[in-house]
Amino acid sequence: MIPCEKLVYLPFQPTTDGLVCDGVSVHTIAAQVGTPLYIYSAAAIREAYRSIDTAFAAYPHAIHYALKANSTLAIVRLLRAMGSRADANSGGEVEVSFRAGFAASDIVFTGVGKTHDEHQFAISRGVGTINAESAGELDRIAAIARALGREARVALRVNPDIDAKSHPNISTGLKSNKFGVPLQEARQIYRDRLNLQGIRFVGVHIHIGSQITTTEPLRRAAAALVSLALELRDDGVPLEHVDLGGGLGIAYEGRPMITPAEYAAAVLPELRRAGIPVVLEPGRAIVGHAGAVIATVVDRKQYPDGRRFAVLDAGMTELMRPALYGSFHRIVPVLPRAGGRISLDVVGPICESSDVFARERDLTPLEVGDHVALLDTGAYGAVMASNYNRRLLAPEVLVDDGRWEIIRRRQTLDDVLALES
Ligand SMILES: Cc1ncc(COP(=O)(O)O)c(C=O)c1O
Repeated sequence: MIPCEKLVYLPFQPTTDGLVCDGVSVHTIAAQVGTPLYIYSAAAIREAYRSIDTAFAAYPHAIHYALKANSTLAIVRLLRAMGSRADANSGGEVEVSFRAGFAASDIVFTGVGKTHDEHQFAISRGVGTINAESAGELDRIAAIARALGREARVALRVNPDIDAKSHPNISTGLKSNKFGVPLQEARQIYRDRLNLQGIRFVGVHIHIGSQITTTEPLRRAAAALVSLALELRDDGVPLEHVDLGGGLGIAYEGRPMITPAEYAAAVLPELRRAGIPVVLEPGRAIVGHAGAVIATVVDRKQYPDGRRFAVLDAGMTELMRPALYGSFHRIVPVLPRAGGRISLDVVGPICESSDVFARERDLTPLEVGDHVALLDTGAYGAVMASNYNRRLLAPEVLVDDGRWEIIRRRQTLDDVLALES
């Protein structure tokens, strides 16, 4: 493994004038837009997309960006312009894919609990592939498609019982997880439904988890999927693709991380055994490093035992990952103060004890009014935001080629209350 900063484009960098995003002053943006806010780098997104595309260049592949990581329209459009296709995880994400300009055939629709209405919508619009999570779902898709006079293109998600060695809350490929069908049952499920009217099998699907930081689980997943694909081919299933899902991790702590090239090197020998085109569904690896939450320190306090707190105007409502998985994010001052480093608990303003971004983190001194950036929050950040405590969704800004624009305005209380009687 190679240190991540040598291979990954990291857009947020300290300078003598403070933190910049692709050369644009973060302080200037925060002063004009207000905090909390998200800032993203278009260059970082493009670069991350390209690095995956390049790593798989020698093999027929399609990158379906996983909208669940970040589905803000401008970002989805940017990726479409790069040549990406879409992986949608709900009816809402399918609709966003359409509004971002994707053709139906460019969309794979995944998700463990799709409703009748979501299926009906996806089938009637002719979505490229529906990744079914159970035999029952395949049968329901077939029935809905027949009723609509359509044929749905489907794949079955298999659960290989492989430990992704990620956080338990984002591991999906163990038999204790709710996702997919047991690998050993898959062949029979395909066989039993090969001639079922209403569906056409076009692929097989696997996704063993997210933030995977070693290649071996990914290689094993690819091996399992390809072995199944070969069996299915023997059974006469006309597979157009094998879908490896997403999962490639990023270096939140700046430590060495597997690169797209290492990922490709691990899975390509397996894929070549079948020679079937591969679908990839990366999310985090494309947008994770590209985003930061910018917050303002709104309070400082110190307990008699010496514990010191910096309270931010951003909390788990803007960035839920630390409260949800205890995840680590680097925290950097936007305009650093002089002085030795001190140990700080950096917390949010929400009435929950889990609303903590960092405990006993060594930071340069922070005072009320200072801005800080929580880095590597482009994935699973803004998409998980909530209105808890009647807080308003933060605005999002995209920096592109030295300019910046607001790609989602700050929500107002009127926006929220418009839904209520
Ligand atoms: C089915 C599926 N595909 C793709 C992804 C994207 O994963 P990641 O962001 O780790 O690449 C996920 C996320 O968990 C997923 O559930």
